Amino acid sequence: MSFENKTFEKEIINIRRFIHQNPELSGKEYNTANFIEKKLEELKIPHKRLAKTGVAALLKGSLGQEKTVALRADIDALPLDEANGVPYKSVNKGVMHACGHDCHAAVMLGAAKLLNENKNNLKGGVKFIFQPAEEIAGGAKKMIKDGVLRNPKPDMILGAHICPWIKSGKVGIKYGAMMAAVDKFTVIVKGRVAHGAYPHLGKDAITAAAYFITSVQTVVSREIDPIDNAVVTIGKINGGAAYNIICDEISMVGTVRSVNKKARRAVKKSILNKLNGLESSFGVKCKIVYESYDAPLINSKEITEICHNSANEFYGKDNVIVLENPSMGGEDFASYLEEIPGNFMYIGSSNGAQTSYPWHHCSFNVDEKALPQAAKYIAYTVEKILNGK
Ligand code: NI
Repeated sequence: MSFENKTFEKEIINIRRFIHQNPELSGKEYNTANFIEKKLEELKIPHKRLAKTGVAALLKGSLGQEKTVALRADIDALPLDEANGVPYKSVNKGVMHACGHDCHAAVMLGAAKLLNENKNNLKGGVKFIFQPAEEIAGGAKKMIKDGVLRNPKPDMILGAHICPWIKSGKVGIKYGAMMAAVDKFTVIVKGRVAHGAYPHLGKDAITAAAYFITSVQTVVSREIDPIDNAVVTIGKINGGAAYNIICDEISMVGTVRSVNKKARRAVKKSILNKLNGLESSFGVKCKIVYESYDAPLINSKEITEICHNSANEFYGKDNVIVLENPSMGGEDFASYLEEIPGNFMYIGSSNGAQTSYPWHHCSFNVDEKALPQAAKYIAYTVEKILNGK
């Protein structure tokens, strides 16, 4: 595989710019999927549409099908107005690639091109998963439901995310838990209305809700093993009618983050217990809708080691950062890891102020030099895995 190729670099950057300029929201990535299919057709890699706006492609190596490695790129954008003044600025008002998913798609098409050029020397297959709707945490599950992990079932899956707090030319590797499970809960506390001067005649939903909010602060500090990480945040609260009326209904919405299944279960159980306690203490009625979004993202030790070694070889040891702590953000790549082992890593993309804005910022941008390099690194790693080098 030849790595010194200016045309290749330009091509990957152009692909990224096209996708960046034409962003589409989660579940609506029709044109993005069409564009990806067109690129796969140019490479003559067989592909099919899954989950409406997702694309799965399968490249078969000519030297046998011992193993299959899956690669995943997410392709959706965010509901933001782009603040960058670049020539490839979003033309879709209110929609922007502010999380780098444009880069992920471009990097994976680059890896597909390189692996395809080398398919006569490959002992296995590569499944490319272009996944929609990562931002609303559901795309991965839909792709899995539509059979993306069948025929053939991949032996492992690799994924990467552009990272604005790692310098371009470097990668971040994390062993074990990398990102948190994401849950959402909606609580309704129902009381009974009364005059504010006669609270004993009503059931005050505000006092009960306030008690609940205070008591959930002890879930993490008193009920979760201090070695495990978890967060409980209530981000929204609504209710009440006037200064002199006992409030009869409060609604609250919050999120729970946890880095393993044990902590995830324990937080949920504790929140439910507290609501039961609230009913008996305050005479209110509580309803909860508890939704489980992303699973915790746990990297396989063995596959992380493979990616780590390959990164040391490709980027050089000094450019590989081994991350100590998991992030409490979520990533639906975790859904694949519930089915097959794999590794998720960070590709550094910052190079100065313009490329150091955080994810989901209206000025988010990347050092594009990182993209062709990442494509080559991924192709290099896949080749090592398939050919047992
Ligand atoms: Ni993202």
